[in-house]
Amino acid sequence: MEKPPVDSNPLSVQLCVNGEVRSLALDPARSLLDVLRDDLRLTGTKKACDMGNCGACTVLVDGRPMYACLMLAVDWSDNVIQTIEGLARNGRLDPVQDAFLAADAFQCGFCTPGQIMSLKGLLNEVASPSDEDIVRALSGNLCRCGAYANLLRAGRIAAGRETIDSPHPGAARATGERMASLPEEPEALIENGGEPATGALAPRTGRAPRLEGVAKVCGRARYSADVRLAGMLWANILRAPLPHARIRAIRTSAARVLPGVHAILCCDNAPDIVWYDKGRLFDRTVRYVGDEVAAVAADSEQIAAHALSLIEVDYEPLPFVLDLAAALAANAPSIHGSERNMVDAPAIARRGNVRQGMRAAELIIDRVYSTQIALHNCLEPHGCVAAWEGERLTLHASTQGIDALRCEVAEKLGLEQCNVRVITEHMGGGFGSKQVAWKQDVIAALLAREARRPVHLLLDREAENVAAGNRNATRQHVRIGAKRDGTLTAITAEIDIQIGAYRAGGEGSMVDGVYHSMYACRNVRTQQTVVYTNTGPAIAFRAPGYVEGAFALESAMDELARALNFDPIELRLRNHTEIDQRKKKPYTLPEGLRACYANVSKAFDWNGYDRSVATGSKRRGIGFAAHDTTTTPN
Ligand code: FES
Ligand code: FES
Repeated sequence: MEKPPVDSNPLSVQLCVNGEVRSLALDPARSLLDVLRDDLRLTGTKKACDMGNCGACTVLVDGRPMYACLMLAVDWSDNVIQTIEGLARNGRLDPVQDAFLAADAFQCGFCTPGQIMSLKGLLNEVASPSDEDIVRALSGNLCRCGAYANLLRAGRIAAGRETIDSPHPGAARATGERMASLPEEPEALIENGGEPATGALAPRTGRAPRLEGVAKVCGRARYSADVRLAGMLWANILRAPLPHARIRAIRTSAARVLPGVHAILCCDNAPDIVWYDKGRLFDRTVRYVGDEVAAVAADSEQIAAHALSLIEVDYEPLPFVLDLAAALAANAPSIHGSERNMVDAPAIARRGNVRQGMRAAELIIDRVYSTQIALHNCLEPHGCVAAWEGERLTLHASTQGIDALRCEVAEKLGLEQCNVRVITEHMGGGFGSKQVAWKQDVIAALLAREARRPVHLLLDREAENVAAGNRNATRQHVRIGAKRDGTLTAITAEIDIQIGAYRAGGEGSMVDGVYHSMYACRNVRTQQTVVYTNTGPAIAFRAPGYVEGAFALESAMDELARALNFDPIELRLRNHTEIDQRKKKPYTLPEGLRACYANVSKAFDWNGYDRSVATGSKRRGIGFAAHDTTTTPN
């Protein structure tokens, strides 16, 4: 939600939150979510989109679930507000919280408070909800980790329709019975994250409890965005509105004199720090919509946003290119001065002789496939809270790579590594995109140093989508040669990979990997070309490259099966390999993939599936694909 300018005339209001009446002087434009999190320190209610799309901010108002980010706090003084922190009573979890633990209905846990409040709201209205009721009640709550199956189970357990042995002490009888029928649970159970406070160590059998489970279902798990330090400022980043432009001038004087502004950084005053090996922390050339132009630290989010709006930037627009094929054209605008926007010379990997292999083929499939950019959209955005103590920097960061972040930030700021400390208590999803230091980590540190105060700099959802990494788009020209009996004789793939404007990590994407590993084939050649475009930088994303490669290779295998009149699984089994053909070593589990084929075809009733051509506006089909992945380059 865009922050309106600061209102200097606060209203006195009383809010009834979790059974307590709180007297507050509030800017009438502030959301209930911000007031809960920042004024009342109830950070269990999460801010993920701040625009009514995700449900992470769900609270109960008079028992009914509502999105706190869409509510003005001053409007709700006559109502009873309940947050996740108000559910557990007298040291005992609410049955819905128990059900979440029993069903293990979460991973990162960032969406969990909102999911629990939505389910609680349903149970307030419907004593024994059906699956349909549960699905509908949770349909406004996104889980980026994809815990949906277990969320439904949690709903059934909470509704008393399913019983499950919970690994969590005190939730062992999570049957949906109401709180009164649950065994007494000591406060220490919550305090100790679900583990009994005392007791001898004993061998454990069955499912182990999540150590952080109780903290997550109670809203006590502290994510980076939840960190609040004394004197903390709020930062925001001004981003480029053009895909390619030179900055002629930046005028920050109006923003600097805005009351409540403590630090401003841009290319005129920031340290000259090399970034992405072809740019600067604040570059005088911007290369994608979203590139960092300036940053402000201020007393509040609203003041920081207002200050950004006062910064004037004079841009000289430059020619730009957004598309992979266009970027490779001979006359394409140049982004970093390299030939046809290639990051490096194409990487070629081969074994055998593909020319001979194609000549030996009785059938050749020749196709071009494209995959599009995909966004990680971690529910918790990227960012950190930065604080200095003398020359020592502490970053409370949302990161998958605590050590990598420490090393990179130390290098960028010229600090000893021992003077950088990175703390990540919990992380609301990363999916590969939080393995590196991003600009905002160093910007937060620099703002904090200039302002001599801690700085909170977490991206908003828009920035998260444009400037926090993505899965590469690709174009893959695939040729597969085969004998009539299905035996592969040759595979070739010419692969173009779009990494956006900078080398942030996407250039390491291993799209070619699956072509070399998946099927027994003596003759394989791949050529991988990594290309700059004026788009947001790509970064690792779950099995980076393998997913894109598998889409094209498996699509071509299906085409081959069709052309040969083969069952798709039969064709794959015909070309199954038990050895890593690149390293010439047997796989650790040579039969593993074959077992997967068998289990999956049984689970989907592959042989009995009705394959008649579907008609009508809704059509269902069944397909089959597999892929492997490796964690090291070929
Ligand atoms: S719906 Fe409110 S934070 Fe997403
Ligand atoms: S557990 Fe739902 S977003 Fe991570």
